[in-house]
Amino acid sequence: MFAIVTHRWLPFAAAVLLAACAAHSPPDAMGKMDKMDKTKAPTLYERLGGQPAIDAVVDDFVANVAADQRINRFFANSNIPRLKRLLSEQICAAAAGPCTYTGRDMKTTHAGMGITERHFNALVEDLVKSLDKYKVPQKEQQELLGLLGPMKPDIVTR
Ligand code: HEM
Repeated sequence: MFAIVTHRWLPFAAAVLLAACAAHSPPDAMGKMDKMDKTKAPTLYERLGGQPAIDAVVDDFVANVAADQRINRFFANSNIPRLKRLLSEQICAAAAGPCTYTGRDMKTTHAGMGITERHFNALVEDLVKSLDKYKVPQKEQQELLGLLGPMKPDIVTR
């Protein structure tokens, strides 16, 4: 008889225990759970691998541009470390990462350079080469190019 009563009350006791545990979870533990929220879709920045991965792609990309006879003359007088920093910032910010782009706007930057569609496509090709080299999946490549593409009218002026 005693055993039957105990079993009947077990689910209720378990529920009370669970509720009590949840109520007593320390606030910082709840905070950590929130940060690890598996229901939130990772940003493009996260899927690209964060800042170290973006910096590596930008490094390789700028090296491709420097070796690319179709467009390297445009960069002959450029401050390359500054350009790399600004490109990394720009990609990070566009991909919803924790960065603020501190460079000039695309129209002002490229004004008077006489950049054509061919030049633009050559640069995109150099970027895709680096994305492929670092095995960035097609989905993420397309998303990134989709964010940079709309800048084209401000860059291509000839
Ligand atoms: C989606 C395409 C492009 C993006 C996102 C982009 C982005 C940038 C950024 C962020 C900067 C630095 C801005 C600053 O100096 O404050 C920059 C500078 C520059 N860009 Fe582009 N760019 C693109 C296409 C091109 C193309 C096609 C060319 C030429 C073939 C080009 C030539 C340059 C040059 C020469 C500079 C350096 C300017 C300087 O040293 O003062 N860019 N670009």
